[in-house]
Amino acid sequence: MTYPYTNEKLRIIAEQFLTRLKTCSDNKSLEALDIEFLGRHGIIAKLMEELKTLSLEEKRTLGPEINLLKKDLQASLLEKKSALTQQEAAAHAERQKLFDVTAYQPGELFGSLHPATHVVQEIEDVLMSMGFEILDGPEIETEEINFEALNIPKNHPARDMQDTFWLTLPQLLLRTHTSSVEIHAMRSRQPPFAIASAGRTYRHEATDACHDFVFMQCEGLLIDKKVSLSHLFATTKLFLQGIFKKEQIEIRIRPSYFPFVEPGIEIDMSCPFCAKGCSVCKKSNWIEICGAGMVHPHVLRAGGINPEEYSGFAFGFGLTRLIMMKYGINDIRYLHSNKLEFLKQF
Ligand code: PHE
Repeated sequence: MTYPYTNEKLRIIAEQFLTRLKTCSDNKSLEALDIEFLGRHGIIAKLMEELKTLSLEEKRTLGPEINLLKKDLQASLLEKKSALTQQEAAAHAERQKLFDVTAYQPGELFGSLHPATHVVQEIEDVLMSMGFEILDGPEIETEEINFEALNIPKNHPARDMQDTFWLTLPQLLLRTHTSSVEIHAMRSRQPPFAIASAGRTYRHEATDACHDFVFMQCEGLLIDKKVSLSHLFATTKLFLQGIFKKEQIEIRIRPSYFPFVEPGIEIDMSCPFCAKGCSVCKKSNWIEICGAGMVHPHVLRAGGINPEEYSGFAFGFGLTRLIMMKYGINDIRYLHSNKLEFLKQF
């Protein structure tokens, strides 16, 4: 500051400005001060206006002094501004130093993936590595796709085995198995193809520790020329070895019946958890793992595929059971209980 100003008025203005400048702690207050003193209608501008009314003599002494004052105020403002910026940068650097990336807020709740999500991701990885395309099917299904196209006509006794949740809308239901996705796949692609689909299925059943009205299945379907049962055996064995990450897994085949496959079989796997019998395999060393078979010609035809030219295999297994086995969950109802103590473990 060019100090002291000979003119008393200018001296007071300069002092007021400096006092105010000291209290400015951020850019916003600096700007306000700038406008008040140096703005178009500010104090300095007013002094200039007043100058016009003064005598020539006064103009000569006061004019340059006002200009000097203006420059002084501008320079002080700039100085303060850069000081503030530096201060802010230093404070920021200090805060950075104290910032603890390992700190956590106690009591905070963290989300985690549901055990079903873990298992589905693992299974899909294995199936994709084997060349299966992963599909999603609707959970609300038509009677035609869930039953008829899968060779389960009305009044077929197999419908009783799959007590169905019907919607109040005609011919719509909650799918009772993921086999319905087989029909969607066949109707939307040309063979050869291999698809797999995991998801929720619904059956109108009384619930207990082992049964629930909603559970998960995973379906696999492969259609090509000259597909045989041996392809099915090799595929399921490789798949199970992949999921349980264990080479010593054997499979065992039992004849069974499902309307949409012929022949129909059930596949058991050697228990991956024990050598001599445990609670999972109920001391038998074998675990029932899936239903499977060669796709029935009626089903191929319903899917728009010529059974004279193509054949295929399908398998469907209870994913929920697999999840329970993998994590040692002994009550199926936990899986959709929304119990935090349960879910937090995964
Ligand atoms: N959909 C059958 C079930 O729910 C399983 C299955 C799928 C059987 C594919 C054979 C072939 O039990």
